Formats: sequence, structure tokens, C-alpha cells
Amino acid sequence: MSAMTGHIVVDNHKVDVTVKNGTIGPSVIDIAKLYGQTGMFTYDPGFTSTASCESKITFIDGDEGVLLYRGYPIEQLAEHGDFLETCYLLLYGELPTAAQKADFDYRVTRHTMVHEQMARFYQGFRRDAHPMAVMVAAVGAMSAFYHDSTDISDPTQRMIASMRMIAKMPTLAAMAYKYSVGQPFVYPLNSLDYSSNFLRMCYAVPAEEYKVNPVMARALDRIFILHADHEQNASTSTVRLAGSSGANPFACIAAGIACLWGPAHGGANEAALKMLQEIGHVDNIPRYIAKAKDKNDPFRLMGFGHRVYKNYDPRAKIMQKTCHEVLTELGIKDDPLLDVALELERIALSDSYFIEKKLYPNIDFYSGITLKAMGFPTSMFTVLFALARTVGWIAQWKEMIEDPSQKIGRPRQLYTGAVQRDYAPIGKRR
Ligand code: CMC
Repeated sequence: MSAMTGHIVVDNHKVDVTVKNGTIGPSVIDIAKLYGQTGMFTYDPGFTSTASCESKITFIDGDEGVLLYRGYPIEQLAEHGDFLETCYLLLYGELPTAAQKADFDYRVTRHTMVHEQMARFYQGFRRDAHPMAVMVAAVGAMSAFYHDSTDISDPTQRMIASMRMIAKMPTLAAMAYKYSVGQPFVYPLNSLDYSSNFLRMCYAVPAEEYKVNPVMARALDRIFILHADHEQNASTSTVRLAGSSGANPFACIAAGIACLWGPAHGGANEAALKMLQEIGHVDNIPRYIAKAKDKNDPFRLMGFGHRVYKNYDPRAKIMQKTCHEVLTELGIKDDPLLDVALELERIALSDSYFIEKKLYPNIDFYSGITLKAMGFPTSMFTVLFALARTVGWIAQWKEMIEDPSQKIGRPRQLYTGAVQRDYAPIGKRR
């Protein structure tokens, strides 16, 4: 990282600042001395102009529609690699050799089972509990089951906790699904690859033999690769902030899952599909487009727009291709939802409102349709996102813990409440 010093003038105060340059992407102004020299904070709700950390993991160029994991374009990773290779890359910084990959796969596979008492923990939920509620609880509860990997100062424990979460997340997610449909849990089968094993844990039943469809497994694996990391988004920042206090990694990832649940973030794929269902028919699209444009209507086209991508989301392009592969494999041609989705996409890409505001379809627009075709209920969509994003959260959490300059995250505020006043006894209040 190169840096140069300079100064900015704020309200007649000259403030010394350092401009730090990354390898690619915008430089940052280090304003750590601002408060000391001016008594003022910066104000940036939503952090639209604020870099919260230095990171070597993921790079996004939102204007150009570029996404790199450790320097590798997402398109190349999704085309040529598998999800566990991406996990290795995100965690260790380099693509594995064949021997490293075999060892990593083996280590993940050895951790796929969960403590048997976790099953009883699941029984405590109502059958109709949202699987994201179950996941927040189950992942948080892992810290109560795996005491030997919660000491964050021990690198070995950090790595064991990381492997455990990557390995067990599919098992926990499949259990959440099985519980919601009233079927018995299916144990992992370690001879299968990561995504095939997950499909089997979701869809196999003891009464029948289950054969994994390789097209579905490959599509799911690609969905996992596309969702694996996305630099300092809301849930990742939540994981970093939770971790900055020294909280154990299971608790931090549970915090990330809670944040991901929101419809403006990971919940958007569920919201996008619900919206397509609500629109129902291509004839209704103009009414919904008008609602989306109406400033007085809170309705937004779910699955469109992105805080960072002001160009086509590169993940959406791959997702669109994967979506068509899955639909072709399953022989789905005349799906009314698909008709609505394609027409909506066509209109949004040609309508001046969407063009001027750079609102392109995002990954959630296509992932919802794909996951539905694969048989997942909408309530599971965000769970699959959480499963895939776990490795990104862990890589970012580890990077933060291993950074010697790491401090507890503690933003400041612009206070606009009451000034100091005296307490009045209850009988004397008006
Ligand atoms: N439909 C209609 N108008 C929109 C939409 C939309 N989906 N998204 C943004 N706009 C408008 C918005 O009303 C605003 O208009 P104006 O400038 O006239 O006030 C303008 O575009 C800019 O919007 P913004 O809210 O300032 O942009 P943002 O960067 O804060 O929001 C977003 C990004 C993703 C929250 C937003 O685009 C959105 O709510 N999209 C729908 C939800 C969605 O699909 N989320 C998934 C994001 S991708 C998955 C992930 O990374 O988690």
C-alpha cells in the first residue's frame, strides 16, 4: 500500500491527512486525526463514502461490473472451479494445488456432522418457524456445542471453528428445511461433493433411493460460488463489528445471518420471487412499473438495483445462464413466473427511469427463479445465501482478527436529542 500526506481545511482548521492507495479501486483519505485536530466527526449515514477497513479479499468495481475474489474474476471461478476451491481461495489467499485441494476437501468433509443434541435443539422450534430464525439460533448455539474452538486468540482454534462452520452449515440448513416439512433429518454422506451432499440432505427420504442430478448440483455449486463473498456489505460489516469486540466466531456469524435476513440484503431473493408471484401475469407489469417509479409509493422492484453495482451485476449474468440451464434440464418452458421475470427484465433494461438510475437486475432476481425451479421453498432462499456467504464472513473475520491494528468498532454520532435537563418527580410532570 502506498501513501502520501496532505491536508484538508475544515472550518479554518488545517487537518493533516494521509491519502492511502490500494492496489486497485479508489484511494482513501485517512481522517483518524480529524477529531483530535478539529473536535468534529465525519457524518456518513449508510457509509456511502466510508471505507471501514483495509482488506485483501474481494474487490468490486461497481461502475464496470467487476467482481474479483483474491484477484480472480468471478466469471472464471464460477466457470472452472468448484465451491470448496473458492472457499480455500478466500481463506488462504491462493488457489490450492491438487494436494492442497484434496486435503482441504477431506478436512471439510470430516466436520459435516453436527452434535446429535443439535437435533433436539431444532425440535424446540414451531414447525412453521422461518428457517432463517432457526439458522440464527442454530449457528449461535454452535458456540455452546463446540467449546474447544471459541478461543479467538488461538490460530488453531480459529481454523477449526472456520472449518466447522463451512462444513456444518449445509447440514444445519438442510435440517432447518427438513424440520419445516416434517421429514426426518438426513445425515451427511461424505462420499458426495459439497453441493450434491446438500441436495441429498434436503431431498432424500429414508423410504426411497435418491440420485443427485449433476446439473442441479453444478448449478447449486455455482450459486454458492457467486454468493461466497462481496466485500464490506451489511452482513459482513456486521460480522466484523461483532468480531471486533472479541466475540466468538459462531456468535459473529450468527450476527451476520441476522443482518442478511433483511429484504434489502439477502432477503431480496425471497422478496423478488414473492413480487413475481404478486405481479402474477405480464399484463400487470405496467402497473407495478408505475408503482416503482412513483415517489410517493414505497414499492420497489425487488431484485433490481444495487448499492455498489451501477452496471450489470456480473453475478447476475452468470446466474441468468445457470437459471436457463436448470429450467432446460427440468423441462420448464411455460412457467408464468418466468414469463413475468423475462418481461420485467426487458422493460427495466429499456425504461429510461431504470436506465438513468442505473438499476439493473441483480443476482437475487435470477437466483430466486432458479432455486424455486430446484424445489426450494422461498423461505429457504436466504438460508442458501447464508450457507454460501459463511466462508466470506469467516475470511473477513479472520483477516480482521489477524490485523495487528484491529480495534473495537465504535462509530460516533451527531446528537440531535434533548440537551441536559433535570429529573422531575412523577407527580410534578406535565
Ligand atoms: N425499484 C425502484 N426504484 C429503485 C430501486 C428499485 N429496486 N432501487 C433504487 N431505486 C431508486 C430509488 O428510489 C432512488 O430514487 P431517487 O434517486 O429518485 O430517490 C434511486 O433509485 C437510488 O436508490 P437508493 O435507495 O439511494 O440506492 P441504494 O444504493 O441505497 O439502494 C438497494 C440499493 C439494493 C437497497 C436498492 O436498489 C433496493 O432496495 N433494491 C431492491 C432490493 C434488492 O434487490 N436488494 C438486493 C441487493 S443485491 C444482494 C445483496 O448484495 O445483498
